[in-house]
Amino acid sequence: MRATLFGASGLLGQELVHELSGNELSGNERSGEQLTALSAEDADLRDRARVLDVIHDSRPDWVVLSAAYTDVDGCESNRDLAFAVNCEGAINVAEAAREAGSRLMFLSTDYVFDGSKRSPYQTSDPRNPTSVYGASKASAEERLLEILPEVCIVRTSWLFGHGGKCFPATILKLASTRSEISVVNDQRGSPTFTRDLASALVQLCRASARGIVHATNSGNCTWYEIATEIVRTSGLPAKVKPVTTAEFPRPARRPAYSVLSPDSLHAYNIHMPDWKDALRRYLDGALAAVPIVS
Ligand SMILES: NC(=O)c1ccc[n+]([C@@H]2O[C@H](COP(=O)([O-])OP(=O)(O)OC[C@H]3O[C@@H](n4cnc5c(N)ncnc54)[C@H](OP(=O)(O)O)[C@@H]3O)[C@@H](O)[C@H]2O)c1
Repeated sequence: MRATLFGASGLLGQELVHELSGNELSGNERSGEQLTALSAEDADLRDRARVLDVIHDSRPDWVVLSAAYTDVDGCESNRDLAFAVNCEGAINVAEAAREAGSRLMFLSTDYVFDGSKRSPYQTSDPRNPTSVYGASKASAEERLLEILPEVCIVRTSWLFGHGGKCFPATILKLASTRSEISVVNDQRGSPTFTRDLASALVQLCRASARGIVHATNSGNCTWYEIATEIVRTSGLPAKVKPVTTAEFPRPARRPAYSVLSPDSLHAYNIHMPDWKDALRRYLDGALAAVPIVS
């Protein structure tokens, strides 16, 4: 499979580089893999001519668009930038993929929903984002489906992984320097390990997936519940205190409930592990790399 990846330096991108370069395959299988991995410096999504060139030159079977402006609070005060990268940039990539005859996989988010449901969101549920970030992704989804009806839009949520900032890394740092940390207990979602997601994404490419697919680790929790699990597993003595979103106002409004139904993923016979299992594997690596001194 020939693939061109935008966002190769990101949290998910780094795991995708590993998966898409065939490192998970044995020698003979690996020989057919060819990856063009791009950071923002290599190709800015807003530079239409550059995007056209790199896709034209690499002629991939799949373009995987993981790149995005992902600072959810930053997007609130930088609306133009959020739409320029996350929506107009995605349109540039989709038009280039159409011209090159390549398939496109676009990474989207649970934040396209308003969080008013209390049962898992289906792919057919209406979008109603409450943040600029969510709105930029929701608009991109709508435009991409028009430009490339065969696009595969993969919504995911609450990513954590090695090689960048993420919630478990922040909690490990805070819990090793404070006796008590406060974490919101009224937002529920599914934490997702970038390693498990990258594997599922490559399986979706191989299955020639199209349409909207929800891909997260299974199970769900609040931020308080995952923080408690991180502190317990790492053996740190810090106390985790549950608080409300109202007590910790942030610029962007986040959905109170954004669990995504796995039905669309299961339709491809792909099953992702439980978030607690994923967290344990992440922590094994994180704690081995930087032993915590409490
Ligand atoms: N993180 C989450 O919890 C979460 C949840 C749901 C969905 N998602 C989606 O999943 C995808 C991956 O997220 P992530 O957390 O891995 O992102 P990330 O770590 O913030 O990485 C973002 C990537 O996008 C690149 N990028 C930023 N602006 C760009 C531009 N103008 N042109 C080209 N490349 C640009 C960055 O390149 P440089 O490093 O060179 O700047 C980096 O490689 C994103 O589409 C995101 O919206 C993430």
